[in-house]
Amino acid sequence: MNNPNFVSMKKGHVLVSGGAGYIGSHTVVSLIENGYHPVIVDDLRNAHEKILSGIKKITGKEIPFEKIDVCDLNSLKKTFERYPFEGVIHFAAYKAVGESVESPLKYYKNNIIGLLNILENCISFNVQNFVFSSSCTVYGEPKDVKVVTENSTIQKANSPYGNTKQIGEEIISDLVNSKKSLKAVNLRYFNPVGAHPSANIGELPIGKPANLFPVITQCGIGKIEKITIFGGNHDTIDGTCVRDYVHVMDVADAHVKALNWLEKQERDSIVEYINIGTGKGTSVLEAIRFFEDISGQKINWEMGKPRPGDVVEIYADVTKAKKLLNWEAKYTIKDAVKDAWRWEKKIKND
Ligand code: UD1
Repeated sequence: MNNPNFVSMKKGHVLVSGGAGYIGSHTVVSLIENGYHPVIVDDLRNAHEKILSGIKKITGKEIPFEKIDVCDLNSLKKTFERYPFEGVIHFAAYKAVGESVESPLKYYKNNIIGLLNILENCISFNVQNFVFSSSCTVYGEPKDVKVVTENSTIQKANSPYGNTKQIGEEIISDLVNSKKSLKAVNLRYFNPVGAHPSANIGELPIGKPANLFPVITQCGIGKIEKITIFGGNHDTIDGTCVRDYVHVMDVADAHVKALNWLEKQERDSIVEYINIGTGKGTSVLEAIRFFEDISGQKINWEMGKPRPGDVVEIYADVTKAKKLLNWEAKYTIKDAVKDAWRWEKKIKND
């Protein structure tokens, strides 16, 4: 069904790698609502075709979809030949902290080669506007203050996943400095959660989920028997880790605003780093309690050991996002819990 709030202004084609994935699919919807023509590149290894039909249900549009692995340079090149892209938003990457500690090569190979291939094509086809899916993980474990600004010292990454994001940002910066035509925004998002309020798209982990929200909602629905909380003796409000959970709708909106901002810049050679969060920290136990209150479901949990690679406490200073992009989170963590739960119940009945 068409969204009555759609803005009809005409914009160009945007390649969205990983566009069938969690944040990618919400960004595709947001791009369409803002008049862009997204083209999804995704090999569906960590995403599902039903997300593509969910996007169609929300937007009423068939979005061009290319089933391509971003590590396959030649296939990617053909996509760049087919469309006159005015921008690229690059999501396609592995993203589980714990798995990256166990399988570092898998992470380095996929996340770095994928990024290199995308950038190589941007240069060859003179696509100037590039938005990178970075992460607060680049800050590593913040020393002293737990609120990080974009100028906070980058500590050594806590995991190979985090390192792929640090290296990714460096590659982009080096390239921007050498090619005057490229402009880039690195969006360092904190913990994206929730789902589209229509429940037509949301997070669809393949196999066992690793992130907290799908673990909680799957436990609520009965797919998982018990949650293991990774550490209860940390130096935080209640001993459990603290994160800045930001609604995926807000994260999607940030990508469109970043792209828009890049398009308006007349200077060459721009590389920016922007935190995308709410500015508020929530502990694991608080998140579980929010879920129990909203859903009426009791969650079984046990206290386990800290997860290797995990940061204890981190949340965002979001002043720069507001100043530069006029972006700020509109949804709360409770909205995210409601939407994630609606989505979980919907996929149970599919
Ligand atoms: C990390 C990155 C984040 C990135 C995300 C992608 C950091 C600080 N954050 O998020 O930027 O977008 O990976 O996947 O590196 N937890 C449990 N039990 C569970 C699952 C999680 O207690 O079964 C806890 C974790 O210890 C953590 C919190 O829940 O404190 C959130 O974990 P998760 O959802 O996996 O995301 P991060 O690892 O924080």
